[in-house]
Amino acid sequence: MNIVVSVTGGIAAYKTVHLVRLLTKAGHDVTVVPTEDALRFVGLPTWEAISRHPVTTSVHDDVARVRHVALGQNADLVVVAPATANSIAKMAAGLADDLFGTTLLATEAPVLIAPAMHAEMWRHPATQANIATLRARGVHIVGPADGELAGGDSGLGRMSEPEEIFDAAVALLAPRDLDGLTVAISAGGTREPIDPVRYLGNRSSGRQGAALAAEAAARGAEVVLVAANISADVLSAAQHPSIRVVPVGSAAELSAAMKDAAAEADVLVMAAAVADYRPVAVSDRKLTKEGGGIPPIELVENEDIVAALVAARRPGQLVVGFAAETPEDEEELFARARRKQQRKGVDVLVVNEVGWDRGFESADNAVHILGRDGAAAGSASGSKRAVSAAVWDAIAGAR
Ligand code: C5P
Repeated sequence: MNIVVSVTGGIAAYKTVHLVRLLTKAGHDVTVVPTEDALRFVGLPTWEAISRHPVTTSVHDDVARVRHVALGQNADLVVVAPATANSIAKMAAGLADDLFGTTLLATEAPVLIAPAMHAEMWRHPATQANIATLRARGVHIVGPADGELAGGDSGLGRMSEPEEIFDAAVALLAPRDLDGLTVAISAGGTREPIDPVRYLGNRSSGRQGAALAAEAAARGAEVVLVAANISADVLSAAQHPSIRVVPVGSAAELSAAMKDAAAEADVLVMAAAVADYRPVAVSDRKLTKEGGGIPPIELVENEDIVAALVAARRPGQLVVGFAAETPEDEEELFARARRKQQRKGVDVLVVNEVGWDRGFESADNAVHILGRDGAAAGSASGSKRAVSAAVWDAIAGAR
């Protein structure tokens, strides 16, 4: 997609370098349009190097290609980050005395702004009136956040983090191809109690599942997110009016919640890391060393939830499984994945290679996706949100 990132003159401009990098890494063609003032914070060579496109602030450069309107006309999305109080006022007034102004007037694409200023300037009635004007025109706003500001101040006015702006931008680019669908997604890792204070668990953070939920909601789906032990911080990525979170602890609780959601859902996604075994007996009291010796923990097998969902599925309901593998090489990865897809009977299988330092707990992921009959249906790497987009593309393709 063609994205224009407009940078206006605030100290947060340095964070926008990372935003441009995230967008280009996700495969977008990014043109940076800074204001003259923005270049006092981050110089032109940085923007050219990071976007791999020529950068100018003036309407008088590249006149033959009518650059002052062409950039806005050709954009699929315009992001203004940071958006200073002055640039917000300029947008509200429709001023066009530089390339930033003309680009914003010439575009019919969605516009996303990330305000950044001191708290007093943000609170000022003039800024609030300008924001209300932009909102009424359909401009999307991310942030500002509460936190440290330039010069040691703190308050509401800090630009949102690049990752958050990236997610908001990607959401605006998302197709609405899941409109009218209800989906249930399990995420996180189950905990099987041993005694009141201990459990058998795993390292899954729930980030990939939360990103899948956010992507589905952005594309128009109603989402039930069955969240196994996911921190509030991770869950904040899945805050959306169309996402209902159902918190669960153990595999048995997750199973009950998914079966409940399955009654309504068109698509079931089992992204959670479910414990294969649980302790046979859960002690009412904390196990102590006083008993002497090492207490054995006898295990019993848990239900394979995804297989149960497949067995009970309604006609037209699609079931998606995940597989975390630690294979020798890619050939082995695919062979094991195809066997697992057959064994579990899932329509789509998302396979990720994991290791001590890969997959779990990290912000990034890399997956291969198998569609119906084990056919390769895509692969993706990058942020868990970018991976989610590829997974939903494959699911939409398999329906
Ligand atoms: O066999 P494996 O655990 O690798 O399979 C992973 C897939 O199976 C995931 O989709 C996971 O959510 C699901 N699963 C399940 N019930 C279990 C174990 C795994 O539904 N008891």
